[in-house]
Amino acid sequence: MEIDPWDSKGVKNYKEICDKFGLDMIDHTKLPNPTHLHRRGIIFAHRDLDNVLNARKAGRPFGVLSGLMPSGQIHLGHKMVIDQAKWFQELGGDVTITVADLEAHATRGLSLEKCRKYAIEEYISNYAGMGLDPDKTSIYFQSERPIVQKLGFTLGTKTNLSEMEAIYGFSGKTSLAHVQSPLVQAGDIVHPQMDEYGGLRPIVVPVGIDQDPHIRLTRGMVSKTNWFNVNQNKNGNLTIGLSIQDNNQEIMGMRNDGGVDKNQRKMIIDKAVSAINKAGFNQINSNPKHGTIDIKDAIAENQNDIQYQLLNLERQLGGMGLMQPSSTYHQFAVGMTGGKMSSSQPETTMFLNDSMKNIEKKINSSFSGGQPTVEEHRAKGGNPDVDVAYQYLRYFFEEDDKELEKIREEYMSGQLLTGEIKAICIEKASEWMKKHHELKDQNQHLIKDFLN
Ligand code: TRP
Repeated sequence: MEIDPWDSKGVKNYKEICDKFGLDMIDHTKLPNPTHLHRRGIIFAHRDLDNVLNARKAGRPFGVLSGLMPSGQIHLGHKMVIDQAKWFQELGGDVTITVADLEAHATRGLSLEKCRKYAIEEYISNYAGMGLDPDKTSIYFQSERPIVQKLGFTLGTKTNLSEMEAIYGFSGKTSLAHVQSPLVQAGDIVHPQMDEYGGLRPIVVPVGIDQDPHIRLTRGMVSKTNWFNVNQNKNGNLTIGLSIQDNNQEIMGMRNDGGVDKNQRKMIIDKAVSAINKAGFNQINSNPKHGTIDIKDAIAENQNDIQYQLLNLERQLGGMGLMQPSSTYHQFAVGMTGGKMSSSQPETTMFLNDSMKNIEKKINSSFSGGQPTVEEHRAKGGNPDVDVAYQYLRYFFEEDDKELEKIREEYMSGQLLTGEIKAICIEKASEWMKKHHELKDQNQHLIKDFLN
């Protein structure tokens, strides 16, 4: 089982993916103000989301980062990510959005000028209608933020071709620009933590499950840059280990001849211990020679707090002090013809710039979970799980859970016919589209604020 971020074939077994890649399932009853996407299990998994939610609870800053590939037309799938960014923004997070023009250039063969045009005319102009707060949203182009490219190089020292091949299935024929693009994306993901972009804080990346390889790669590279590793030990407590790297040998008390400089080592351990104290933990047993510190009064759930203090210390000492990004994962709505949603096949999705006439046509000819004849439908009922009209109500157009449940029951019982559920979907879609276009037109002046 592979996930290819540039060609996702439609994931079938979400639970299996979670087990295989170590994602945690989301329990929406524990979320503040969950959206319909959370309540319906569409946003279903995460990595380290608690780091973000705990920061919020404690009134500390956190950020959201998302990205768009400026190729083709914006469709409903793209809107889901913005809805999530907006949800985090309403919880107090700042929002950064990457226009992945370098990636589109590398993987789709588009010129940077074309990417810019698509990004503004298709994507950003539609974002203006989606309710993001311009004071807390920044949209940038990869090609215009050198720091993301620089970070891509620095993080790139922590991976190699074999790992890139294993994660992405790259081969000898893969262009080097393509190989580079996940590194730039890693730069995108971590750069909001740099001082000039808001400083050390949790950053959450809401993505479709197809983008998890990028998150895994980024988290792996980031953890390898960390000067202090925080791990659970066999007693269930936490142990800190010094990570000695080319750029910190002296600070960590390593002599040129490979021996340990005892004074320097003691000093660095003392500093780490006071960082741990700052996080509120005091039962500490350190072993300077081995470069380890056991914290007996800390358990797994304290890991993020301790890490935060140690990353601050790392920064004071001249390291990057990067936190691993958090992430959330959403499932994909089925394509309108019953297969995969793909922007290169217009009949499989609704574009936000489609005319209502076109949308009506697409819904009317969409894949149906109904029975072939009215008699059979009345007797057996329809299957909402594969029915496009139902699924689009569930994903996009019907926010009221009770109303949706009613539609589901009536469809399953055969009371609601295929044509009728499609009519409901058309009505709700046109309501949504109308509102969206009104807001979009009203808010075009925000584009320049987003790009600031
Ligand atoms: N690779 C993403 C896509 O194909 C675009 C992207 C670039 C992105 N940088 C990002 C997404 C950072 C999330 C976070 O759509």
